[in-house]
Amino acid sequence: MKAQKIFTHLNQIFCPVDKGHALRGVEMLEAKILENGYIAILDGRILDVGEGKPPKAMIGELTEQIDCRGKIASPGLIDSHTHLVYGGSRENEFAKKLNGVSYLDILREGGGILSTVHATRESSFEELYEKSEKLLEEIVVHGVTTVEAKSGYGLNWEVEKRQLEVVKRLNENLAVDLVSTFMGAHAVPPEFKGRSKEYIDVLVEEMLPKVVEENLAEFCDVFCEKDVFSAEESRRILSAAKELGLKLKIHADEIEAIGGTELAAELHAISAEHLMVVSEEEIKKMSEENVIGNLLPATTFSLMTNTYAPAKKMLEAGMAIALSSDSNPGSCPTANLQFIMQLGCFAMKLTPIQVFNAVTINAAYAIDRAKEVGSFDIGKYADITMFDAPNIDYPLYFFATNLVSDVYKKGELIVKNRQLV
Ligand code: NIG
Ligand code: FE
Repeated sequence: MKAQKIFTHLNQIFCPVDKGHALRGVEMLEAKILENGYIAILDGRILDVGEGKPPKAMIGELTEQIDCRGKIASPGLIDSHTHLVYGGSRENEFAKKLNGVSYLDILREGGGILSTVHATRESSFEELYEKSEKLLEEIVVHGVTTVEAKSGYGLNWEVEKRQLEVVKRLNENLAVDLVSTFMGAHAVPPEFKGRSKEYIDVLVEEMLPKVVEENLAEFCDVFCEKDVFSAEESRRILSAAKELGLKLKIHADEIEAIGGTELAAELHAISAEHLMVVSEEEIKKMSEENVIGNLLPATTFSLMTNTYAPAKKMLEAGMAIALSSDSNPGSCPTANLQFIMQLGCFAMKLTPIQVFNAVTINAAYAIDRAKEVGSFDIGKYADITMFDAPNIDYPLYFFATNLVSDVYKKGELIVKNRQLV
């Protein structure tokens, strides 16, 4: 078969091994690194990858050959945890944070997530769309081709739906793929203060069935945290979501460990997010039930708590881990997944191979997209992120700089020389 495009002379190509499940424990050390590689694509999908010269049989008259000297390639990066759609911003809390006021104290005073809820409720669909589109473009310029996006700043049906519809529209209009998560259980809205049971009734009896009926999300997530939703409350919400056919995620053990990880194992959540203060016992439970640990080191960085999730302990216990940004206006205002990858090395002491696996194949499993993306297996989408770099170690070692040069989504160029096409 003739290729449509062939990228040649890539210094290295990072090829994760898709074993049919997220890579666990020592498996995360594995990958094929092709030297002087080529990637051949056809109809937006991977046709072949290899070293040296591409097979002659693949080169036809119409084949476009693209010389990629000076670059390396990895499967398009996947940001498997973002809070993409919101109104306003929260730099006004920054000075407080620098003076030592905690994230949960700011939330208890009605700030934090609730201040973003206020700004999001004030925003029209168009305003939210434009703002999210800009942020998404910034994320893409840093090498990302697939993005998970959560609701959770509406906390009433009208505005949760608006957020989910923004995600849907972005998915339709932009080249990148979005995966939608309903997170109506992100906080108890002010009008239900002190009546969380009643808010959960609304979530379970009204909102979740509508999410499913209107096909607005594929996952359900809950912020299981002290003074937000207890493990018992989270169980009720997630069990109802599961019953309706949604897949599960849970924000657990971010600030205090209150049983969210145990719940993730019990309900077979696809992933548990954050896990900064998780215990060894809980790690074992998640490992046994194949819950992917979705770690968000830039949130620890931004919260300034120095509580990085114990990634190495998780790997020792045989868990699978993914890394993602948590991009949001409060605990992690960033659009740069490369910085998260670098923190994976600098703060968690993961190796470049473990980190690349965490943002490609394992991130694909964390959002249930591994059949389509996350590796260069033949037939998967030709989602390719190229870095200006001599080898795969370089973009992790040379930090806080955007080294992504070109990005292809389904074989089409969407970023060239660090600019959106
Ligand atoms: O993952 N922890 C809960 N949710 C987000 C923060 C959202 C916000 O502060 O606006 C997180 O850290
Ligand atoms: Fe989050």
